[in-house]
Amino acid sequence: MTAASPFEQIVDYANRADPWPLYEKLRAQPVWQEADGTFVVGGFREIDALLHDPRISSDPSNLLPEYADKAPPPDAPGELPNALIRTDPPRHDTLRRITMRQFGPPHRPDLIDELTPTLEAIVTRLVDGLAGKDDADIVDTIAYPFPVEVITELLGVPPEDAPRFQAWVEPIVNAFGDPTPERWRARTDAFKQLAAYMFDLAQQRRGDPGPDMISGLVTDDGPEGRLEGGDLFATLVLLLIAGHETTVNLIANGWLTLLRHPEALRRLRTEPDFSIRLVEELLRYEPSVHFLPNRSAVADIELGGTTIKKGHPLVLVLASGNRDPEFIPHPDRFDPDRTGNMHLAFGSGIHYCVGAPLARLEAQLALTQLAKRLRDPRLIADPPPYRISPILRGPTHLPVAFSGVHPA
Ligand code: HEM
Repeated sequence: MTAASPFEQIVDYANRADPWPLYEKLRAQPVWQEADGTFVVGGFREIDALLHDPRISSDPSNLLPEYADKAPPPDAPGELPNALIRTDPPRHDTLRRITMRQFGPPHRPDLIDELTPTLEAIVTRLVDGLAGKDDADIVDTIAYPFPVEVITELLGVPPEDAPRFQAWVEPIVNAFGDPTPERWRARTDAFKQLAAYMFDLAQQRRGDPGPDMISGLVTDDGPEGRLEGGDLFATLVLLLIAGHETTVNLIANGWLTLLRHPEALRRLRTEPDFSIRLVEELLRYEPSVHFLPNRSAVADIELGGTTIKKGHPLVLVLASGNRDPEFIPHPDRFDPDRTGNMHLAFGSGIHYCVGAPLARLEAQLALTQLAKRLRDPRLIADPPPYRISPILRGPTHLPVAFSGVHPA
């Protein structure tokens, strides 16, 4: 039996708590070809170059037929087309432009700023809920419910429906990165149900629009028209899932890192604006998305002495790039004072995360409140238990003890 490759070990759940030494092994070669023909890249410069290379595709139909089983199956066969995250130009750019009309500059430049008081109020109420306790699971009480409330508010999804869509999102996320046939089946079923739910909601908003993003998407007639049918539901499902699953990890990984670095926790309590630099370093040091599994080359590409072959799956390991010593000095050091902090946490190039400003703000607010209000917080389990997915990496639970909660 041949030894497991670095990438096989990275995917192995046994290494979820500490994948960092494996990323170092991965970077020993610019490009790896796995036994099944998948190419894997872990260096910062190489990943960044590929994310800007027009010969790289996010559309699964560019995979060779023999890799069809490697491609995520259509989200809901016969019903949903690929969402923008899995399309290429020019289709990608059209879908993205229409979506961005509801999301920020230039059409709604104040959207995120205007949301700040609402976000403050939500996180204050959630932290208030810890009063009278001396321990809590920070994932269940803060890191998860906060981004869920924010994205439901933003999209205009009724908050009381959160348990329904959470039950659909879980199988979708579990299949991501380590897809067994059962996980894919559960994922496809969940996608269909989530799309049907979004269909009903969109119908309702067409008749009775409000200030939310779903209403905006179903009523706005921009120069490129509206999102209709499958494109609309695929976009809504993407926004709903991308809009909270990743931020949960940023807050949970962030709080874990702060409790492991008491000096940073102390500074967050006392230094104004420290949260901005802190969250940027957290994004680099403990990113929520460890790799992008959904690329392929549309032509052979020479990189570091290897040919990335056309039509083969290509995996870009963002978390490894973020710790690449060839690009980032002392990458294993958690240092919020870094100048010119560069990282790949939100990707790079045309698919760069549309929710980055929102995610940054959510993490800044949540971590600052936790730091200022929990008295003497301590980790109960280190490392904590991790979620199944090697891609969306973060704790399932984060039990923390504390000696009371300061008032807001
Ligand atoms: C910590 C939080 C977040 C992280 C780490 C994150 C990470 C990423 C990454 C790495 C990509 C690039 C994917 C690719 O190149 O294939 C991406 C794209 C995307 N993200 Fe985020 N994201 C976060 C939060 C959000 C939020 C809050 C939203 C929406 C409200 C969002 C919506 C999207 C969308 C729609 C795309 C696809 C953009 C495109 O394909 O052009 N994300 N995100």
